[in-house]
Amino acid sequence: MQKFSDLQLKEQILKNVLNAGYETPTPIQAQSIPILLEGGDLLGIAQTGTGKTAAFTLPMLQHLSDRQFSLMSCEPRALILAPTRELASQIKEQLDKYGQGLKLKYAVIFGGVGQASQVAALRNGLDIVVATPGRLLDLMNQGHCRLNRVEIFVLDEADRMLDMGFINDIRKIIPKLPAKKQTLLFSATMPPEIATLAAKLLHNPKKVEVTPPATTVERINQRVIFVSKAHKYQLLRKILKEESTELTLVFTRTKHGANKIVDYLNMHQIGCAAIHGNKSQSAREKALEDFKSGKIKVLIATDIAARGIDVQGVSHVVNYDLPVEAESYVHRIGRTARAGKDGSAISFCDDSENDALHRIEKLIKLKLPRENFIGVPEASVQSSRPDRPYRDPRAQQRGGRPAPRSEAQPGEKVIHPPRYEHAPKAPRDPNQGPNKPDDKNKPKVGFRFRQKKERY
Ligand SMILES: Nc1ncnc2c1ncn2[C@@H]1O[C@H](COP(=O)(O)OP(=O)(O)OP(=O)(O)O)[C@@H](O)[C@H]1O
Ligand SMILES: [Mg+2]
Repeated sequence: MQKFSDLQLKEQILKNVLNAGYETPTPIQAQSIPILLEGGDLLGIAQTGTGKTAAFTLPMLQHLSDRQFSLMSCEPRALILAPTRELASQIKEQLDKYGQGLKLKYAVIFGGVGQASQVAALRNGLDIVVATPGRLLDLMNQGHCRLNRVEIFVLDEADRMLDMGFINDIRKIIPKLPAKKQTLLFSATMPPEIATLAAKLLHNPKKVEVTPPATTVERINQRVIFVSKAHKYQLLRKILKEESTELTLVFTRTKHGANKIVDYLNMHQIGCAAIHGNKSQSAREKALEDFKSGKIKVLIATDIAARGIDVQGVSHVVNYDLPVEAESYVHRIGRTARAGKDGSAISFCDDSENDALHRIEKLIKLKLPRENFIGVPEASVQSSRPDRPYRDPRAQQRGGRPAPRSEAQPGEKVIHPPRYEHAPKAPRDPNQGPNKPDDKNKPKVGFRFRQKKERY
């Protein structure tokens, strides 16, 4: 087995890697690092959680630390693009860890926060910028960042960065990069239609494919549970109660859906938080921080947390809704069983999700073990909207009150009260009411008025 010391890395980098607790390089690291140290372009594909970040950052740090000149303001020497703010931050943290003592300067650039500190960092000169495309483009348009001196360009989660959501921004960023540079693309999945686009970005690339794209980690215990939409809440609660979960990451398709699960679990005294695109950046950071520290054991997320996020101790991933894109399944479940650990992935499938399940199984070339869950009616599940008492509209028209709901136990004979009870009419008092005797002498106002009108 290869050792880190065989990879021609600097003394300081080797020391940092040992301090990080790594003993041997993972296959993607062992195969990519020598190619990258030679300066070639590379397409790297390896399963989730197998150390792709170190595979591209270690050689980058080595290359940039040989710098013999001062940095130029607003002109970084390396650019790493990632699809989410959380992943960009995480890559920056990895750089801090692997790059200790190398005197390199890095900064992370993403939206949702003020730009002043990011602009200041760029002005002071940076070796590496880790960015999400939107904010980077914004700062480039404002003249705070120029890419003409970039020596190394990395697209992490490359297939995601080149698909519909990001391709327009990427198309604007790429022409600003110099022609002569080292380009690296990394991902655990690489759909064929994206692979051709990726190939256009690379010059004489080497391809390191540790496993075929979209291979799920063998150590993940995967299963599907068929359940009706209405009983998914209940099933989730059962899993959290009965399985020996450490940290659980629950994926939903929508932001609203994520919020609703948080409400439900909180109602059942299960501490959790949601992370999605409608939350403020501070709320997103707090949710992830609380999850990492174990303050909350359950994090409900949209696909924002599906790619790249590395949280130690995630024992379970629950797909509350199956993802529309089959690739997302591979990335979502890859949040567990990282760096050699074990994990479980449980996917809920309702009647409307059979096609999605079929697409996933086709992609991962695996038929998932199946189970069924039949829930029981549960008041708290149905009452996500405030309860309104039932009123019979016909009864209201006739002025009656609706019949009271029966509180009889099952099997008990129900005796219904008569539907509309009217009090017996009292005989009319001739001295009361509009035509009582004194009224007879009083002038009738309406009548006199009519007479007046006729007169004039
Ligand atoms: N050589 C190594 N030995 C042990 N652990 C490692 C090694 N390299 C990386 N790790 C650890 O493995 C975990 C996963 O690494 P990383 O996030 O780079 O995976 P990845 O391949 O990028 O996954 P994903 O596809 O989900 O983005 C991290 O916690 C990292 O610290
Ligand atoms: Mg990664």
